[in-house]
Amino acid sequence: MTISTFLKTSAAIIAVSGFATSAMAQNVEVLHWWTSGGEAAAVGVLKDDLATKGFGWDDMPIAGGGGSDAMTVLRARVVAGDAPTAAQMLGFDIKDWAGTTGKLGNLNAVAERDGWDAVIPEALQEFSKYDGVWIAAPVNVHSTNWVWINKSALDAVGGKAPESWDELIVVLDAMKANGITPLAHGGQAWQDATIFDAVVMGIGADFYQAAFIDLDPAALGGADMVKAFERMAKLRSYVDDNFSGRDWNLASAMVIEGTAGMQMMGDWAKGEFLKAGQVPGEDFICIRFPGTQGKVTFNSDQFVMFDQGGASEAQLAMAASVMDPVFQSAFNVVKGSVPARTDVPNTDFDDCGKKGMADFAEANANGGLYGSMAHGHANPAAIKNAIYDVVTAHFNGEYDSVTAAAELVDAVEIAR
Ligand code: GAL
Repeated sequence: MTISTFLKTSAAIIAVSGFATSAMAQNVEVLHWWTSGGEAAAVGVLKDDLATKGFGWDDMPIAGGGGSDAMTVLRARVVAGDAPTAAQMLGFDIKDWAGTTGKLGNLNAVAERDGWDAVIPEALQEFSKYDGVWIAAPVNVHSTNWVWINKSALDAVGGKAPESWDELIVVLDAMKANGITPLAHGGQAWQDATIFDAVVMGIGADFYQAAFIDLDPAALGGADMVKAFERMAKLRSYVDDNFSGRDWNLASAMVIEGTAGMQMMGDWAKGEFLKAGQVPGEDFICIRFPGTQGKVTFNSDQFVMFDQGGASEAQLAMAASVMDPVFQSAFNVVKGSVPARTDVPNTDFDDCGKKGMADFAEANANGGLYGSMAHGHANPAAIKNAIYDVVTAHFNGEYDSVTAAAELVDAVEIAR
């Protein structure tokens, strides 16, 4: 069955079966990579929400930030004919699954009933729809150009949050002089790439667009890219000796404990600070990566549903639940992300969340929204992984910055 036939067929099945969220003795098996303390707390919000509607939760967690390992397991399960009910998925992976497998369910009936078109920004719909059909329910919007700073460590170096690259270096140097690890980082390819998102955006939004979205060889291999790699090498000098392989949430813990000054990480990191009982503005502060103010490199966690001979009641109820405005507030308050819907009040969000919501709305209105390369919203996985390889090889000292820029051009060309 082709994707379009399947989409039409499942739409018809949904239409006749109805999808009231009445209590049903059904479970949803959900594959996801939300395994850190803060992430697990957010999963708890979703699980509890579904329980109130009568649906049980079969957990399928696959550890590994950024979700690469989860995608490998998912592919194996689908190939074996054992797809989960639903899976967390990002950006271009959703498009790939929709386009090549024909196994994603059609959510149009619930999307139309609940008016998703009017409340989900176009930038997200780009990944939630395929051939005009809703095939994913966006639960949030994260962004990667954030820095999380220990407040006491910042106060100890003068208390002023850096607003430019030069100010950032002054703060990092001062933290180093104070005897702490200036930059908490985990040496994993996706984490290196997450910093690279922000560093490239810090050089310029047009440059980010040309390099990561348009894949222009002149941008990928030019002087600005050499400068971006030089900045990565500079940041590398503020990382401790044990960074290799460290999980991102352990790097967050270093900032929470004050053994490190800051972490450059997407806003899922906030979930760790909150889980540890920390308060924004008091224990930690959140800033946009210096030089990227007004720009948002976003990624959106979405749930896709797998064909179960037509979408099941549980799948439709789950899709409706994750899109419920009350749920989107409750979930994202804990997760560190902002709602995927534009009509959710910011009342329950802390100051970082309010800033995240305002930044997203402003960027969405002013063309300042860019898909995150590191988190699969700029390119298909093959290109993303090719960029990862070069960024990590450079971060680990295998290439100097000029060589890395040249390698980037070649790696992207081969992957295309
Ligand atoms: C991102 C995902 C977030 C968070 C993070 C670290 O790709 O969008 O929800 O889970 O990975 O695991």
